[in-house]
Amino acid sequence: MSLVGTMPCWVTESDWKLSRSPAQTAFQIAFKTPLQRFSWVIQNPQGLIPLADHIQVLGDMSTLSIVADYSWEQLETPIIVDCGGGEGGLISAILDAHPSFQAIVQDMENVVALTSSIMKERRPRDIESGTLKVEAHDLFQSQPRIGNEYSFILRHILHDWPDEEAAAILGNVARALGPKSKILIIDMVAIPNVDSTATTSAKLFLPDGDDKHPDYCVPSHFGSASKLVSGYSVHMLSMMNGCERSLREWENLVKGCGLRITKVYSLRAHTSVIECALDAQGLL
Ligand SMILES: C[S@@+](CC[C@H](N)C(=O)[O-])C[C@H]1O[C@@H](n2cnc3c(N)ncnc32)[C@H](O)[C@@H]1O
Repeated sequence: MSLVGTMPCWVTESDWKLSRSPAQTAFQIAFKTPLQRFSWVIQNPQGLIPLADHIQVLGDMSTLSIVADYSWEQLETPIIVDCGGGEGGLISAILDAHPSFQAIVQDMENVVALTSSIMKERRPRDIESGTLKVEAHDLFQSQPRIGNEYSFILRHILHDWPDEEAAAILGNVARALGPKSKILIIDMVAIPNVDSTATTSAKLFLPDGDDKHPDYCVPSHFGSASKLVSGYSVHMLSMMNGCERSLREWENLVKGCGLRITKVYSLRAHTSVIECALDAQGLL
């Protein structure tokens, strides 16, 4: 809630209103810190578990449909790496449904300590057998899991970051891909807002009976097709200058990393699976 209170100041008065830096947002003003959100959590470990739990709940909203609606059986790689996989809820659900896969959860060092203890408690056999590994890895460093054995998940990672950082993260994974590997970006696909040309000429019927013709500056449905996504986008903006991206924006980001989108899976959820592979023509 403190972010909500700080946003008007950030977007109107501060020197940062045009900044694209993840460390010049309403978050830094609200929390009186120069650190970006994830670095702040390292310095303030009391915030780690509430944040990780909050993120896991957000993920849980789409986990069932990710497992059910993506065709996991056509992945040609035996090992799935969940980059920035948090508490490991998604990888657990995938292993339950598809026990033939092996899996690795990667995250920041302080987070994997939490993930390891959760996974040891919930999936002791997978941890003991090595079917499931938990390892520290910084998204901004080269991906150590390289080649045809691995496919990668990035769920709710790229929407945290502005384009420059998102391209750095995605590029690090792209450079690790073999020809059979896939990257599954799991995030929202923003629906561009409907403009006045799409409004109906029908009258608006107001509760007070004072019927009015629509104001063409405002879409007749107030942009409701994209309201949920826009809400998330403002949330990501206020925390890290991140955003939800339209399909065109996803295509540009993916192409810039030497990848191509092979298929977009619409899910019975608010997110989609944007499946990517190496672009044979792409320059890495
Ligand atoms: C929005 S959460 C998504 C978590 C998980 N993928 C999910 O869908 O539930 C972003 C995750 O990225 C991790 N993260 C942030 N910066 C990172 C970095 N530099 N290296 C590795 N992980 C990072 C956070 O710790 C967090 O778990």
